[in-house]
Amino acid sequence: MRSILVLNGPNLNLLGSRQPEVYGRVTLKMIDTNCIAQGKSLGAQVVCQQSNHEGVLIDAIHAAKGCHHGIVVNAGAYTHTSIALMDALASVELPCIEVHLSNIHAREDFRQVSHISKVALGQICGFGSLGYTMAISALIAHLEETG
Ligand code: DQA
Repeated sequence: MRSILVLNGPNLNLLGSRQPEVYGRVTLKMIDTNCIAQGKSLGAQVVCQQSNHEGVLIDAIHAAKGCHHGIVVNAGAYTHTSIALMDALASVELPCIEVHLSNIHAREDFRQVSHISKVALGQICGFGSLGYTMAISALIAHLEETG
């Protein structure tokens, strides 16, 4: 069975109450539940993890090798700053889809730079929590296509 890691970075544990006008009212728990259900409906296992710490996220990416077939990642603000996370994703050579709830390209200049995009198959942003289930469908389709 295919297995996908859904990895969320800093401050995303606060979804639901954090700037709802930007990020919506859906909690991370609801997102995780939807991701697991979406995976199940497509015959894949989904495992969800969140951390506010860069090193913990890097360790989770390293541990994904040999354990999961792909990664859906919302690295939060580390998207714009962390070469270490980009390197970790490149190192494990797992297909990865980048997700953001907000449309980072329509926001402040500093949010328009993504180091993650350089190593991701693609980016989904601006669709709120729906972006995660879109990414799971896209990743499973990619895995099926590439065998
Ligand atoms: C975010 C966008 C980032 O710029 C921000 O730092 C976040 C959330 C998003 O999902 O829209 O924490 O990744």
